Amino acid sequence: MDRIRIVGGNELHGVIPISGAKNAALPLMIASLLTDDTLTLENVPHLADVEQLIRILGNHGADISVNGRRERQGESYARTIHFTSRNIVSTTAPYELVSKMRASFWVIGPLLAREGKARVSLPGGCAIGTRPVDLFIDGLTALGANIEIDGGYVNATVPAGGLVGGRYVFPKVSVGATHVLMMAATLANGTTVLGNAAREPEVVDLAKCLNAMGAKITGQGTNTITVEGVPSLSGARHRVLPDRIETGTYAMAVAMAGGDVILEDTDASLLETALEAIRRTGAEISETNSGIRIVRSGAGIKPVDIVTDPFPGFPTDLQAQFMGLMTKSSGVSHITETIFENRFMHVQELARLGAKISLSGQTAKVEGVSRLKGAPVMATDLRASVSLVIAGLAAEGETMVSRVYHLDRGFERLEEKLTRCGAHVERVSD
Ligand code: EPZ
Repeated sequence: MDRIRIVGGNELHGVIPISGAKNAALPLMIASLLTDDTLTLENVPHLADVEQLIRILGNHGADISVNGRRERQGESYARTIHFTSRNIVSTTAPYELVSKMRASFWVIGPLLAREGKARVSLPGGCAIGTRPVDLFIDGLTALGANIEIDGGYVNATVPAGGLVGGRYVFPKVSVGATHVLMMAATLANGTTVLGNAAREPEVVDLAKCLNAMGAKITGQGTNTITVEGVPSLSGARHRVLPDRIETGTYAMAVAMAGGDVILEDTDASLLETALEAIRRTGAEISETNSGIRIVRSGAGIKPVDIVTDPFPGFPTDLQAQFMGLMTKSSGVSHITETIFENRFMHVQELARLGAKISLSGQTAKVEGVSRLKGAPVMATDLRASVSLVIAGLAAEGETMVSRVYHLDRGFERLEEKLTRCGAHVERVSD
Protein backbone atom coordinates (compact mmCIF):
# COMPACT_ATOMS: atom_id res chain seq x y z
CA MET A 1 0.00 0.00 0.00
CA ASP A 2 1.38 3.43 -0.92
CA ARG A 3 2.59 5.92 1.65
CA ILE A 4 3.62 9.55 1.35
CA ARG A 5 6.98 10.54 2.80
CA ILE A 6 7.53 14.18 3.63
CA VAL A 7 10.69 15.80 4.89
CA GLY A 8 9.60 19.13 6.32
CA GLY A 9 11.31 22.48 6.31
CA ASN A 10 11.30 23.58 2.66
CA GLU A 11 9.48 26.71 1.52
CA LEU A 12 7.18 26.43 -1.50
CA HIS A 13 7.97 28.48 -4.61
CA GLY A 14 6.43 28.09 -8.05
CA VAL A 15 3.15 27.39 -9.79
CA ILE A 16 0.53 24.82 -8.85
CA PRO A 17 -2.15 24.04 -11.44
CA ILE A 18 -5.55 23.50 -9.85
CA SER A 19 -7.61 20.58 -11.13
CA GLY A 20 -11.30 20.41 -11.93
CA ALA A 21 -13.44 20.01 -8.82
CA LYS A 22 -14.09 16.46 -7.69
CA ASN A 23 -17.31 17.51 -5.99
CA ALA A 24 -18.58 19.11 -9.19
CA ALA A 25 -17.40 16.33 -11.50
CA LEU A 26 -19.27 13.63 -9.57
CA PRO A 27 -22.81 15.12 -9.81
CA LEU A 28 -22.14 16.26 -13.39
CA MET A 29 -21.21 12.70 -14.36
CA ILE A 30 -24.38 11.43 -12.68
CA ALA A 31 -26.45 14.00 -14.60
CA SER A 32 -25.44 12.20 -17.80
CA LEU A 33 -27.96 9.49 -16.85
CA LEU A 34 -30.77 12.00 -17.48
CA THR A 35 -30.36 11.91 -21.25
CA ASP A 36 -29.89 9.34 -24.01
CA ASP A 37 -27.61 11.83 -25.74
CA THR A 38 -23.89 12.41 -25.07
CA LEU A 39 -22.74 14.62 -22.22
CA THR A 40 -19.12 15.70 -22.64
CA LEU A 41 -17.29 16.92 -19.57
CA GLU A 42 -13.96 18.73 -19.83
CA ASN A 43 -11.41 19.28 -17.06
CA VAL A 44 -12.41 16.09 -15.23
CA PRO A 45 -9.79 15.33 -12.58
CA HIS A 46 -8.05 11.97 -12.56
CA LEU A 47 -9.07 10.68 -9.13
CA ALA A 48 -10.06 7.39 -7.54
CA ASP A 49 -13.60 8.69 -6.88
CA VAL A 50 -14.07 9.57 -10.55
CA GLU A 51 -12.87 6.11 -11.60
CA GLN A 52 -15.26 4.52 -9.12
CA LEU A 53 -18.19 6.53 -10.47
CA ILE A 54 -17.25 5.55 -14.03
CA ARG A 55 -17.71 1.91 -12.92
CA ILE A 56 -21.05 2.72 -11.31
CA LEU A 57 -22.41 4.58 -14.34
CA GLY A 58 -21.25 1.69 -16.54
CA ASN A 59 -23.37 -0.61 -14.41
CA HIS A 60 -26.43 1.47 -15.36
CA GLY A 61 -25.60 1.27 -19.06
CA ALA A 62 -23.49 4.35 -19.68
CA ASP A 63 -21.00 4.12 -22.51
CA ILE A 64 -17.97 6.13 -21.41
CA SER A 65 -14.96 7.19 -23.43
CA VAL A 66 -12.01 9.13 -22.13
CA ASN A 67 -9.88 11.40 -24.28
CA GLY A 68 -6.79 11.67 -22.14
CA ARG A 69 -5.12 14.94 -22.98
CA ARG A 70 -2.06 16.33 -21.31
CA GLU A 71 -3.18 19.90 -20.99
CA ARG A 72 0.12 21.05 -19.58
CA GLN A 73 3.13 18.87 -20.06
CA GLY A 74 3.74 16.85 -16.96
CA GLU A 75 1.51 18.91 -14.74
CA SER A 76 -2.10 18.05 -15.28
CA TYR A 77 -4.00 15.13 -16.63
CA ALA A 78 -7.34 16.91 -16.86
CA ARG A 79 -9.46 14.78 -19.10
CA THR A 80 -12.37 15.17 -21.42
CA ILE A 81 -14.86 12.36 -20.91
CA HIS A 82 -17.92 11.52 -23.00
CA PHE A 83 -20.88 9.86 -21.30
CA THR A 84 -23.68 8.31 -23.33
CA SER A 85 -26.52 6.44 -21.64
CA ARG A 86 -28.53 5.45 -24.70
CA ASN A 87 -30.46 2.94 -22.59
CA ILE A 88 -30.55 2.45 -18.86
CA VAL A 89 -29.86 -1.26 -18.46
CA SER A 90 -30.19 -1.40 -14.68
CA THR A 91 -32.02 0.81 -12.20
CA THR A 92 -30.31 -0.89 -9.28
CA ALA A 93 -27.25 0.56 -7.59
CA PRO A 94 -25.92 -2.30 -5.48
CA TYR A 95 -24.42 -2.16 -2.02
CA GLU A 96 -20.98 -3.28 -3.25
CA LEU A 97 -20.72 -0.14 -5.38
CA VAL A 98 -22.62 2.45 -3.31
CA SER A 99 -20.84 1.57 -0.07
CA LYS A 100 -17.50 2.56 -1.62
CA MET A 101 -18.55 6.13 -2.29
CA ARG A 102 -21.48 7.98 -0.79
CA ALA A 103 -22.06 10.25 -3.81
CA SER A 104 -23.04 7.22 -5.89
CA PHE A 105 -26.34 7.23 -3.95
CA TRP A 106 -27.17 10.33 -6.00
CA VAL A 107 -27.96 8.21 -9.08
CA ILE A 108 -31.38 7.82 -7.45
CA GLY A 109 -32.45 11.22 -8.85
CA PRO A 110 -31.79 10.67 -12.57
CA LEU A 111 -32.86 7.00 -12.49
CA LEU A 112 -36.18 7.87 -10.94
CA ALA A 113 -36.79 10.83 -13.24
CA ARG A 114 -35.90 8.96 -16.42
CA GLU A 115 -36.99 5.38 -15.70
CA GLY A 116 -39.67 5.89 -13.05
CA LYS A 117 -37.95 3.53 -10.64
CA ALA A 118 -34.73 3.10 -8.75
CA ARG A 119 -33.38 0.65 -6.22
CA VAL A 120 -30.36 2.14 -4.55
CA SER A 121 -28.42 0.80 -1.60
CA LEU A 122 -28.31 2.95 1.51
CA PRO A 123 -24.79 4.36 1.64
CA GLY A 124 -24.30 3.68 5.34
CA GLY A 125 -22.21 5.76 7.71
CA CYS A 126 -18.69 6.91 7.10
CA ALA A 127 -15.69 8.12 9.01
CA ILE A 128 -16.93 11.70 9.30
CA GLY A 129 -20.45 11.04 10.60
CA THR A 130 -23.68 9.10 10.23
CA ARG A 131 -24.80 11.03 7.13
CA PRO A 132 -28.45 9.95 6.78
CA VAL A 133 -30.55 10.18 3.57
CA ASP A 134 -33.82 11.45 5.03
CA LEU A 135 -33.72 14.70 3.05
CA PHE A 136 -33.44 12.83 -0.24
CA ILE A 137 -36.39 10.64 0.68
CA ASP A 138 -38.60 13.50 1.89
CA GLY A 139 -37.68 15.65 -1.11
CA LEU A 140 -38.32 12.96 -3.72
CA THR A 141 -41.58 12.12 -1.95
CA ALA A 142 -42.59 15.79 -2.35
CA LEU A 143 -42.13 15.27 -6.11
CA GLY A 144 -44.55 12.34 -6.06
CA ALA A 145 -42.21 9.37 -5.60
CA ASN A 146 -43.23 6.39 -3.48
CA ILE A 147 -40.35 5.30 -1.37
CA GLU A 148 -39.80 2.40 0.95
CA ILE A 149 -36.68 1.11 2.62
CA ASP A 150 -36.20 -2.60 2.60
CA GLY A 151 -33.21 -4.80 3.26
CA GLY A 152 -30.75 -1.90 3.19
CA TYR A 153 -32.10 -0.56 -0.09
CA VAL A 154 -34.16 2.49 -0.94
CA ASN A 155 -36.86 1.35 -3.37
CA ALA A 156 -38.36 4.29 -5.19
CA THR A 157 -41.09 4.29 -7.79
CA VAL A 158 -43.09 6.93 -9.55
CA PRO A 159 -46.81 6.65 -10.38
CA ALA A 160 -47.78 6.57 -14.07
CA GLY A 161 -47.29 10.02 -15.50
CA GLY A 162 -43.94 10.59 -13.82
CA LEU A 163 -42.64 12.90 -11.14
CA VAL A 164 -44.65 16.04 -10.50
CA GLY A 165 -43.30 19.46 -9.67
CA GLY A 166 -43.56 20.27 -5.98
CA ARG A 167 -42.31 22.50 -3.22
CA TYR A 168 -39.71 21.26 -0.77
CA VAL A 169 -37.95 23.28 1.88
CA PHE A 170 -34.83 21.51 3.17
CA PRO A 171 -34.89 21.47 6.98
CA LYS A 172 -31.09 21.47 6.80
CA VAL A 173 -28.80 22.53 3.98
CA SER A 174 -27.60 19.50 2.02
CA VAL A 175 -25.39 19.68 -1.03
CA GLY A 176 -26.16 16.14 -2.19
CA ALA A 177 -29.92 16.36 -1.67
CA THR A 178 -29.98 19.68 -3.55
CA HIS A 179 -28.12 18.06 -6.47
CA VAL A 180 -30.51 15.11 -6.53
CA LEU A 181 -33.75 17.08 -6.28
CA MET A 182 -32.58 19.55 -8.89
CA MET A 183 -31.73 16.70 -11.27
CA ALA A 184 -35.00 14.85 -10.61
CA ALA A 185 -37.08 18.01 -11.03
CA THR A 186 -35.68 18.74 -14.50
CA LEU A 187 -37.86 15.97 -15.96
CA ALA A 188 -40.90 16.39 -13.65
CA ASN A 189 -44.26 17.62 -14.84
CA GLY A 190 -44.61 21.21 -13.71
CA THR A 191 -42.52 23.50 -11.58
CA THR A 192 -40.49 22.61 -8.51
CA VAL A 193 -39.38 25.12 -5.91
CA LEU A 194 -36.56 24.10 -3.56
CA GLY A 195 -36.22 26.24 -0.43
CA ASN A 196 -33.15 26.43 1.84
CA ALA A 197 -31.20 24.87 -1.02
CA ALA A 198 -27.41 24.53 -0.93
CA ARG A 199 -25.63 27.49 -2.54
CA GLU A 200 -22.30 25.79 -3.11
CA PRO A 201 -20.50 26.59 -6.40
CA GLU A 202 -20.78 22.90 -7.34
CA VAL A 203 -24.60 23.22 -7.23
CA VAL A 204 -24.36 26.25 -9.51
CA ASP A 205 -22.07 24.31 -11.86
CA LEU A 206 -24.53 21.43 -12.04
CA ALA A 207 -27.42 23.82 -12.76
CA LYS A 208 -25.35 25.47 -15.50
CA CYS A 209 -24.69 22.10 -17.13
CA LEU A 210 -28.31 20.96 -16.78
CA ASN A 211 -29.47 24.22 -18.40
CA ALA A 212 -27.03 23.60 -21.27
CA MET A 213 -28.78 20.21 -21.61
CA GLY A 214 -32.13 21.98 -21.96
CA ALA A 215 -33.31 22.19 -18.35
CA LYS A 216 -35.01 25.31 -17.03
CA ILE A 217 -33.41 26.11 -13.71
CA THR A 218 -33.22 29.52 -12.08
CA GLY A 219 -32.09 30.73 -8.67
CA GLN A 220 -29.01 28.50 -8.40
CA GLY A 221 -26.51 30.13 -6.07
CA THR A 222 -29.36 31.53 -3.94
CA ASN A 223 -31.24 29.51 -1.36
CA THR A 224 -34.34 29.18 -3.55
CA ILE A 225 -33.99 27.16 -6.73
CA THR A 226 -36.84 26.93 -9.23
CA VAL A 227 -36.96 24.13 -11.79
CA GLU A 228 -39.51 24.13 -14.58
CA GLY A 229 -39.81 20.55 -15.79
CA VAL A 230 -39.15 19.70 -19.45
CA PRO A 231 -40.07 16.47 -21.31
CA SER A 232 -36.46 15.50 -22.10
CA LEU A 233 -32.88 16.68 -21.93
CA SER A 234 -30.26 16.64 -24.65
CA GLY A 235 -26.50 16.27 -24.63
CA ALA A 236 -24.11 19.14 -23.93
CA ARG A 237 -20.47 20.03 -23.46
CA HIS A 238 -19.45 21.44 -20.11
CA ARG A 239 -16.19 22.34 -18.38
CA VAL A 240 -15.93 21.33 -14.72
CA LEU A 241 -15.24 24.32 -12.49
CA PRO A 242 -11.94 24.60 -10.55
CA ASP A 243 -11.58 22.73 -7.28
CA ARG A 244 -12.00 25.30 -4.50
CA ILE A 245 -11.01 22.78 -1.84
CA GLU A 246 -7.79 21.91 -3.63
CA THR A 247 -7.17 25.66 -4.06
CA GLY A 248 -7.68 26.33 -0.36
CA THR A 249 -5.56 23.33 0.59
CA TYR A 250 -2.51 24.53 -1.36
CA ALA A 251 -3.03 28.08 -0.13
CA MET A 252 -2.87 26.74 3.42
CA ALA A 253 0.18 24.65 2.55
CA VAL A 254 1.99 27.82 1.46
CA ALA A 255 0.76 29.70 4.54
CA MET A 256 2.24 26.85 6.60
CA ALA A 257 5.54 26.24 4.81
CA GLY A 258 6.17 29.83 3.73
CA GLY A 259 7.04 30.84 0.19
CA ASP A 260 5.46 32.36 -2.88
CA VAL A 261 3.15 30.30 -5.09
CA ILE A 262 0.72 30.96 -7.90
CA LEU A 263 -2.34 28.73 -7.88
CA GLU A 264 -3.31 28.58 -11.52
CA ASP A 265 -6.65 27.91 -13.25
CA THR A 266 -8.71 28.74 -10.22
CA ASP A 267 -10.93 31.53 -8.99
CA ALA A 268 -10.76 33.39 -5.67
CA SER A 269 -14.50 34.05 -5.70
CA LEU A 270 -15.09 30.33 -5.07
CA LEU A 271 -13.55 30.52 -1.60
CA GLU A 272 -13.62 34.08 -0.28
CA THR A 273 -14.28 33.12 3.34
CA ALA A 274 -11.42 30.64 3.47
CA LEU A 275 -9.02 33.05 1.75
CA GLU A 276 -9.95 35.76 4.22
CA ALA A 277 -9.16 33.40 7.11
CA ILE A 278 -5.78 32.57 5.54
CA ARG A 279 -5.07 36.30 5.07
CA ARG A 280 -5.73 36.87 8.74
CA THR A 281 -3.05 34.31 9.59
CA GLY A 282 -0.56 36.70 8.00
CA ALA A 283 -0.27 35.45 4.42
CA GLU A 284 -0.68 37.83 1.49
CA ILE A 285 -3.18 36.76 -1.14
CA SER A 286 -3.81 38.50 -4.42
CA GLU A 287 -5.69 37.62 -7.58
CA THR A 288 -3.83 37.03 -10.83
CA ASN A 289 -5.24 36.76 -14.37
CA SER A 290 -5.82 33.05 -14.06
CA GLY A 291 -5.79 32.37 -10.34
CA ILE A 292 -4.37 33.37 -7.00
CA ARG A 293 -0.94 34.29 -5.69
CA ILE A 294 -0.13 33.49 -2.09
CA VAL A 295 2.94 34.71 -0.29
CA ARG A 296 4.07 34.14 3.25
CA SER A 297 7.40 35.50 4.28
CA GLY A 298 9.28 35.23 7.57
CA ALA A 299 6.60 36.49 9.95
CA GLY A 300 4.88 33.83 12.05
CA ILE A 301 1.40 32.38 11.64
CA LYS A 302 -1.26 34.29 13.55
CA PRO A 303 -4.02 32.36 15.33
CA VAL A 304 -7.48 32.68 13.72
CA ASP A 305 -10.80 31.21 14.86
CA ILE A 306 -13.10 29.64 12.28
CA VAL A 307 -16.56 28.06 12.24
CA THR A 308 -17.55 25.81 9.35
CA ASP A 309 -20.81 26.60 7.59
CA PRO A 310 -22.58 25.91 4.31
CA PHE A 311 -21.43 28.12 1.41
CA PRO A 312 -20.54 30.99 1.51
CA GLY A 313 -19.26 30.12 4.99
CA PHE A 314 -15.96 28.44 5.78
CA PRO A 315 -16.09 25.00 4.07
CA THR A 316 -16.05 21.89 6.24
CA ASP A 317 -13.82 20.34 3.57
CA LEU A 318 -11.07 22.81 4.55
CA GLN A 319 -11.47 22.51 8.31
CA ALA A 320 -8.82 19.82 8.82
CA GLN A 321 -6.29 21.66 6.66
CA PHE A 322 -6.86 24.89 8.59
CA MET A 323 -6.33 23.03 11.82
CA GLY A 324 -3.06 21.73 10.40
CA LEU A 325 -2.02 25.34 9.75
CA MET A 326 -3.09 26.49 13.22
CA THR A 327 -0.92 23.88 14.94
CA LYS A 328 2.05 26.21 14.35
CA SER A 329 0.33 29.52 15.05
CA SER A 330 1.72 31.95 17.59
CA GLY A 331 -1.31 31.67 19.92
CA VAL A 332 -4.61 29.92 20.60
CA SER A 333 -7.28 29.35 17.95
CA HIS A 334 -10.70 27.71 18.05
CA ILE A 335 -12.06 25.61 15.22
CA THR A 336 -15.74 24.75 15.31
CA GLU A 337 -17.28 22.12 13.03
CA THR A 338 -21.02 22.54 12.44
CA ILE A 339 -21.66 20.33 9.39
CA PHE A 340 -20.51 16.86 10.44
CA GLU A 341 -20.59 15.47 13.95
CA ASN A 342 -17.38 13.48 13.76
CA ARG A 343 -14.93 15.35 11.62
CA PHE A 344 -12.04 15.64 14.04
CA MET A 345 -10.27 12.37 13.33
CA HIS A 346 -7.14 14.28 12.33
CA VAL A 347 -6.72 15.67 15.86
CA GLN A 348 -5.05 12.57 17.23
CA GLU A 349 -2.79 12.21 14.22
CA LEU A 350 -1.75 15.89 14.34
CA ALA A 351 -0.94 15.32 18.01
CA ARG A 352 1.56 12.65 16.93
CA LEU A 353 3.48 15.45 15.21
CA GLY A 354 3.51 17.47 18.43
CA ALA A 355 0.35 19.56 17.96
CA LYS A 356 -1.50 20.67 21.11
CA ILE A 357 -5.23 20.30 20.47
CA SER A 358 -8.07 19.69 22.90
CA LEU A 359 -11.65 18.94 21.94
CA SER A 360 -14.78 20.17 23.62
CA GLY A 361 -17.91 19.09 21.78
CA GLN A 362 -17.74 20.43 18.26
CA THR A 363 -14.91 22.86 18.97
CA ALA A 364 -11.19 22.18 18.88
CA LYS A 365 -8.88 24.45 20.82
CA VAL A 366 -5.50 24.59 19.10
CA GLU A 367 -2.56 25.94 21.06
CA GLY A 368 0.12 26.76 18.54
CA VAL A 369 3.54 25.24 19.09
CA SER A 370 6.85 26.58 17.83
CA ARG A 371 7.97 23.27 16.41
CA LEU A 372 6.37 20.12 15.05
CA LYS A 373 8.38 16.95 14.71
CA GLY A 374 7.91 14.38 11.94
CA ALA A 375 6.34 11.03 12.84
CA PRO A 376 4.45 8.15 11.21
CA VAL A 377 0.77 9.13 10.90
CA MET A 378 -2.31 7.58 9.39
CA ALA A 379 -4.79 9.15 6.97
CA THR A 380 -8.37 8.68 8.19
CA ASP A 381 -10.36 10.44 5.50
CA LEU A 382 -9.66 12.52 2.46
CA ARG A 383 -9.36 15.99 3.96
CA ALA A 384 -7.89 14.77 7.25
CA SER A 385 -5.09 13.10 5.34
CA VAL A 386 -4.07 16.24 3.53
CA SER A 387 -4.00 18.15 6.83
CA LEU A 388 -1.24 15.74 7.87
CA VAL A 389 0.66 16.59 4.70
CA ILE A 390 0.34 20.30 5.50
CA ALA A 391 1.64 19.76 9.02
CA GLY A 392 4.40 17.49 7.69
CA LEU A 393 5.63 20.28 5.38
CA ALA A 394 6.49 22.35 8.44
CA ALA A 395 7.58 19.54 10.76
CA GLU A 396 11.20 18.81 11.45
CA GLY A 397 12.39 15.58 9.89
CA GLU A 398 10.35 12.83 8.30
CA THR A 399 6.59 12.40 8.34
CA MET A 400 5.29 9.21 6.80
CA VAL A 401 1.56 9.26 5.94
CA SER A 402 0.02 5.83 5.49
CA ARG A 403 -3.38 4.88 4.00
CA VAL A 404 -2.75 7.24 1.12
CA TYR A 405 -5.70 5.85 -0.82
CA HIS A 406 -7.79 8.44 1.03
CA LEU A 407 -5.69 11.19 -0.55
CA ASP A 408 -5.97 9.63 -3.99
CA ARG A 409 -9.75 9.96 -3.80
CA GLY A 410 -9.55 13.72 -4.04
CA PHE A 411 -6.09 15.14 -4.74
CA GLU A 412 -4.72 14.74 -8.22
CA ARG A 413 -0.93 14.21 -8.29
CA LEU A 414 -0.42 15.87 -4.93
CA GLU A 415 3.19 14.82 -4.47
CA GLU A 416 4.11 16.03 -7.94
CA LYS A 417 2.42 19.42 -7.48
CA LEU A 418 4.20 20.00 -4.17
CA THR A 419 7.57 18.66 -5.30
CA ARG A 420 7.62 21.03 -8.26
CA CYS A 421 7.41 23.87 -5.76
CA GLY A 422 10.40 22.65 -3.81
CA ALA A 423 8.76 20.47 -1.18
CA HIS A 424 10.34 17.18 -0.26
CA VAL A 425 7.36 14.88 -0.78
CA GLU A 426 7.46 11.45 -2.34
CA ARG A 427 5.23 8.45 -2.77
CA VAL A 428 6.66 5.26 -1.39
CA SER A 429 5.23 1.99 -2.74
CA ASP A 430 5.79 -1.05 -0.56
C1 EPZ B 1 -20.95 17.07 0.05
O1 EPZ B 1 -21.34 15.92 0.76
C2 EPZ B 1 -19.49 16.88 -0.29
N1 EPZ B 1 -19.35 15.68 -1.11
C3 EPZ B 1 -18.68 16.72 0.98
O2 EPZ B 1 -17.31 16.64 0.63
C4 EPZ B 1 -18.87 17.99 1.83
O3 EPZ B 1 -18.18 17.82 3.05
C5 EPZ B 1 -20.36 18.21 2.09
O4 EPZ B 1 -21.09 18.25 0.84
C6 EPZ B 1 -20.65 19.51 2.84
O5 EPZ B 1 -20.15 20.58 2.12
C7 EPZ B 1 -19.54 15.75 -2.43
O6 EPZ B 1 -19.89 16.78 -2.99
C8 EPZ B 1 -19.29 14.52 -3.21
P1 EPZ B 1 -24.44 17.23 2.76
P2 EPZ B 1 -22.88 15.64 1.04
O7 EPZ B 1 -25.61 16.45 2.32
O8 EPZ B 1 -23.68 16.18 -0.07
C9 EPZ B 1 -26.72 16.00 6.76
C10 EPZ B 1 -15.17 15.64 0.59
O9 EPZ B 1 -14.27 15.56 1.45
N2 EPZ B 1 -27.73 15.30 5.96
O10 EPZ B 1 -24.36 18.68 2.39
O11 EPZ B 1 -22.99 14.20 1.36
C11 EPZ B 1 -25.35 15.36 6.71
O12 EPZ B 1 -25.26 14.26 7.58
C12 EPZ B 1 -16.62 15.39 0.94
O13 EPZ B 1 -14.96 15.91 -0.61
C13 EPZ B 1 -28.83 14.82 6.59
O14 EPZ B 1 -29.01 14.96 7.81
O15 EPZ B 1 -23.09 16.50 2.35
C14 EPZ B 1 -24.46 16.52 7.12
O16 EPZ B 1 -24.46 16.66 8.51
C15 EPZ B 1 -16.80 14.87 2.32
N3 EPZ B 1 -29.76 14.14 5.85
C16 EPZ B 1 -25.16 17.72 6.48
O17 EPZ B 1 -26.50 17.28 6.21
C17 EPZ B 1 -29.63 13.96 4.50
O18 EPZ B 1 -30.51 13.35 3.89
C18 EPZ B 1 -24.56 18.22 5.18
O19 EPZ B 1 -24.33 17.11 4.33
C19 EPZ B 1 -28.49 14.49 3.87
C20 EPZ B 1 -27.55 15.16 4.62
